[in-house]
Order: sequence, then structure tokens, then C-alpha cells
Amino acid sequence: MIVVTGGAGFIGSNFVLDWLQEKDEPVVNVDKLTYAGNLQNLEVLAGDRRHTFIRADIGDIDAIKVIFDQHRPRAIVNFAAESHVDRSIVAPDDFVNTNVVGTYRLLEATRWYLDRMEDEERFGFRFLHVSTDEVYGSLDVKALPFSETHRYEPNSPYSATKAASDHLVRAYHHTYGIPVMTTNCSNNYGPYHFPEKLIPLCIHNALAGKDLPIYGDGLQIRDWLYVKDHCSAIRRVLEQGSVGETYNVGGCNEMTNLDVVKSVCSVLDTLNPRQDGASYASQIVFVKDRPGHDRRYAIDASKISRELNWMPSETFETGIEKTVTWYLENPDWIANVTSGNYQKWVSLQYGEGPTP
Ligand code: NAD
Ligand code: TYD
Repeated sequence: MIVVTGGAGFIGSNFVLDWLQEKDEPVVNVDKLTYAGNLQNLEVLAGDRRHTFIRADIGDIDAIKVIFDQHRPRAIVNFAAESHVDRSIVAPDDFVNTNVVGTYRLLEATRWYLDRMEDEERFGFRFLHVSTDEVYGSLDVKALPFSETHRYEPNSPYSATKAASDHLVRAYHHTYGIPVMTTNCSNNYGPYHFPEKLIPLCIHNALAGKDLPIYGDGLQIRDWLYVKDHCSAIRRVLEQGSVGETYNVGGCNEMTNLDVVKSVCSVLDTLNPRQDGASYASQIVFVKDRPGHDRRYAIDASKISRELNWMPSETFETGIEKTVTWYLENPDWIANVTSGNYQKWVSLQYGEGPTP
């Protein structure tokens, strides 16, 4: 069986759902259930004996050791993290605690577990660390996309803490021989994405008749990947990746934020037109820029494509249509996650909150 950490979050829950659809190998899902973790994402697994959920903090080394000892995983896939750049700017503490200290403790628990393993079992074991392209910093418009050897230049507390975690993972391989692999992926979108991030925020606000806030001039570029493609890349790395290697994962799909939001509006205009006949794009407003906002991210995914024969299945057009359709079909999910604490975040970040 495998242990997945952060498996109640956006990418982690998509990964667990896909894993159990593709394979019969059981998953122990370890998640602290912060504001971003949501067991509703895993509802369809109720009663499925292949899925065990355990609420725990990756930084609680004793709890993690007990989990490893009892379940004897052959692999760990580490998604658990604080993941929102804007929150990291407002309050970096949790980012240092989970992304740096938490990853360190998870690695320590893994070291302890491996030290007690027979050689044969140890040989096949893998620790897969899920990271981001944001560790590489910001690219000029004409610069080549990030390859795995691009220098680390993180600019936000989020990316700095993810960079630190990547370095710890690397060091635990070189120093202690832990069989690690790291993936650095571009921006994901898809089902179960918490509506604090650009795409689900805009879908949610558009349907609620609220403003669609674009930071600065909206010409910042991201390389968008449908979440199921990220999950298939992680499965491929786990199956065929080489120990000690890192793999960049991306959609070959660079777009400005403004174009992304316009695409979301255009899909909504088709699938769920506004009653007054106007386009949702009329709700776009330009707001104050994010401090230290990285201008461009772009991934060179040729290594994973060449060495592991992985390619994304979705284009942005097919992926965004699936995503918008999912949000239209799951109003209860949005209603649940946008109650309570969510309101506090929106008014802190956007003043009184984007209004019509
Ligand atoms: P998310 O914020 O949606 O989910 C994070 C999950 O981790 C939540 O379920 C949360 O409860 C859990 N968690 C947080 N702190 C924890 C702790 N101390 N112990 C145990 N669980 C904890 O994040 P996401 O977007 O699903 O991202 C998952 C991973 O992928 C992160 O490591 C992130 O850096 C990386 N990543 C994300 C993207 C993206 O576009 N979202 C892109 C590349 C890489
Ligand atoms: P986000 O989804 O927060 O992901 P990340 O910061 O990890 O790339 O943001 C994606 C881009 O969208 C980023 O350039 C910031 C921008 N953005 C806005 O313009 N308005 C918003 O309200 C949000 C949340 C993000």
C-alpha cells in the first residue's frame, strides 16, 4: 500500500480518487484537515476498504511513525503543504511550519522506518515529494522555460518554503540514502479546487454576480495543467522514475491571467448564460497587484516526456470545459467550502469582498 499526505486537498484528493480507479492498491490518506482539506472530496470512497483516512499532521513525528509501522507503506507521496501564495504573504508562519518543518519531520520518520526495514523491502521503497515550478522564480517573457537544472530563485514565502522542502528531500537522499524523487509542476486547475485560487474563484464569483479580480495588469503568465494530468504524471514517476531525480511537469500551455479569466467567462457564457445576455467578462475588474508578483512561469517538460513517456491528455480548452462543468454540477460543494472561514479570507484579501 501507499501513504498519501494531504490527500483531502485539491490535488491530493484527485490523486487518491484516480489511484483507486486505476489500481487496487490500498491508500492510507494522512491529512491534518486545515481549511484546505475537505473530506467531502472523498465522499465516493465511503465504505471502500482500500481507502483509510487518518487525521494527522506531517509534523507530528510520533503519529507518523505509528502510521508507517502499522501500515508498512511501499511508498509515500507527499502533497501536504500550505499552498496559497496570497496567504503566505499575509501569514507565513504556517508555511514554514508545514512546508519546511513538516517535510523535515516526515523525512525523519521515513528514515526511522527505513532503518528498520529488510534490504529487499527497502530497495523498492520510494518517497515522492510533490513540489512546484514556483521554486525557480520568475522568467522574462523571452526566456527559455524552466528545466530541472534551472537555478532556485523563490520569491514568495510559499515558494521559499517549498524550495526549502525540496532541498531537504534532496539532502536526505544524498546523506541518508532515502530513495526520493521530486516533481515540480506548473499551475493546476480542475475539480475540488478551493475557490481562493484564480480559476475557481472566478467561476464562483461569476456565478454569484461578483467582480472577477485581476491583479495588476493581468499580463502575468502561468503554464496551466489539468489536475488529472498532474496525477497521471505522479503515477508515472512513482512507477518508472529514477531515484534521486527531479521531473518538471507542465501543460505546455502558457497563458496570461487575463486570457485565462476570459476563457472561463466564455465557457460560462455558453454553458450557463447570464439572464441579461451580457458576458461574464463584464464582471472583470483590475485590483491592486500582489506584492512581489512573479511575472512568468513556464515549464520545460521534455525530461519526463523523453524518459518516462508522459504527456498531458487535456488541452486547456478541453480541461477548462470539464472544470467549469464540474463546478456547475456541484453547487453544494462550493456552498460548503465558501461558508465560514472563507468569508473572512475574502474580506481580508479583497476589502469588503468583490461585489457586483
Ligand atoms: P491544497 O492547499 O489544496 O491542499 C493541501 C492539503 O494538505 C490539505 O488537504 C491540507 O489539509 C493538508 N495539509 C496542510 N498542512 C498539513 C500538515 N501539516 N499535515 C498534514 N496535512 C496537511 O494544495 P494543493 O493545491 O492540492 O497542492 C498539493 C501539493 O502540490 C502542494 O505540496 C503544492 O505545493 C503542490 N503543487 C500545487 C500546485 C497547484 O497549482 N495547486 C502546483 C504545483 C505543485
Ligand atoms: P493563484 O491561483 O493564486 O496561483 P499561483 O499564485 O500559485 O500562481 O494565482 C494564479 C495567478 O492569478 C497569479 O498570477 C495571481 C493571479 N490572481 C489574480 O489575478 N486574481 C486573484 O484574485 C487571484 C487569487 C490570483
